[in-house]
Amino acid sequence: MFTPLNYSSMARILVTGGTGYIGSHTVVELMQKGYDVTIVDNLSNSSIDVLDGITEIVGHKPEFANIDCCNFMDLDNVFRQFTDIVGVIHFAASKAVGESVEKPLMYYRNNIGSLVTLLEVMKLHQVPNIVFSSSCTVYGQPDNDHLPVDETAPIQKALSPYGNTKQINEEIICDEAHADKGLHATILRYFNPIGAHPSALIGELPNGVPQNLLPFITQTAAGLRPELKVFGNDYNTPDGSCIRDYIYVVDLAKAHVKAIDRMLEVKDRDQVEVFNLGTGTGLSVLTLINEFEAATGLKLPYTIVGRREGDIEQVWAAPKKANEVLGWKADTPIRDVLASAWKWEKHIRKL
Ligand code: NAD
Ligand code: WQD
Repeated sequence: MFTPLNYSSMARILVTGGTGYIGSHTVVELMQKGYDVTIVDNLSNSSIDVLDGITEIVGHKPEFANIDCCNFMDLDNVFRQFTDIVGVIHFAASKAVGESVEKPLMYYRNNIGSLVTLLEVMKLHQVPNIVFSSSCTVYGQPDNDHLPVDETAPIQKALSPYGNTKQINEEIICDEAHADKGLHATILRYFNPIGAHPSALIGELPNGVPQNLLPFITQTAAGLRPELKVFGNDYNTPDGSCIRDYIYVVDLAKAHVKAIDRMLEVKDRDQVEVFNLGTGTGLSVLTLINEFEAATGLKLPYTIVGRREGDIEQVWAAPKKANEVLGWKADTPIRDVLASAWKWEKHIRKL
């Protein structure tokens, strides 16, 4: 058990989707900073067991309500119960790009509906601060003079309903902030979150066949998959494979604490602020495989296959604004990040 820091209640943060991958890591960092936390989650893509992991790390349990953020009454009841909520971090959403192409209506209903409902309930209870989970996917494939990509890079037509829900949600937040000067928002555009808490008590729990690269790597290394398929090595990159900005999920979680701190402490901030959250370093798929092998001492079986439809060639962040304004930097070495992912995989597979 981790010795809890000198916990003293500062204020309460509502974390929607807080038993999910990024949400659970953020709850840990919030609680270790001293915030009270209430999680709301409908467990559509996570397990209630995550609460045990959070509790073991932090030393006490967050409040939890199993509700759907699209349900006004249920969400309203949470705000009636916890009258000390000063801010919300909104992670709750469906996030599988491929699934969104097959089930667009479910994605629009869930991702748009949950945000609109949340903003309505926040307004009713005069809770002014929201941090919103967005994605670098809003940039599409930046052109060369916008790489690395900063917050001024153009938003391009979304390549999936999922990506479109992020763009629409950002616009909803901006429109509501224009109409209601009492709303303050921080939009965080994540690049590619990977890894797991160093305790290996929480991590990414993808349902079914993983879509993302790292869970596929660790499941292959664990022998659950015969090999990794590398989707293309004929891109216009140094080794032909796609380049991404892989950011440690704990570093990403810490950025959320910095964002909440800023919203509560800094008064002369813009009403809506946008930050790219990445390391500033792009890594190719083949490089990541090599780094994983170096971090774990394992040999990863993989084959090069054709490109995956919808993949962009290369994107990585220019994180200068987040570094300077939030006083935050994603600086965990990639091999430590990959080792954390492997430690988590061994934990859940009891290897
Ligand atoms: P996740 O699926 O692990 O977590 C999302 C959580 O929200 C889950 O626990 C799920 O049960 C819950 N949820 C979904 N719809 C809900 C609803 N209507 N009401 C209540 N709970 C609901 O996903 P994640 O990787 O932690 O992503 C969190 C957020 O970050 C999402 O908004 C996602 O779009 C965004 N994001 C993720 C990535 C990534 O690569 N993981 C990258 C960029 C942005
Ligand atoms: C990374 C690279 C693949 C799996 C997605 C969403 C994005 C965000 C993050 C939510 C790509 C390659 C992957 C595999 C592979 N999610 N790959 N073999 O596509 O950058 O972003 O997750 O917001 O919106 O689009 O991440 O991990 O799927 O892929 O070669 O088995 O790994 O081609 O180049 P991606 P990813």
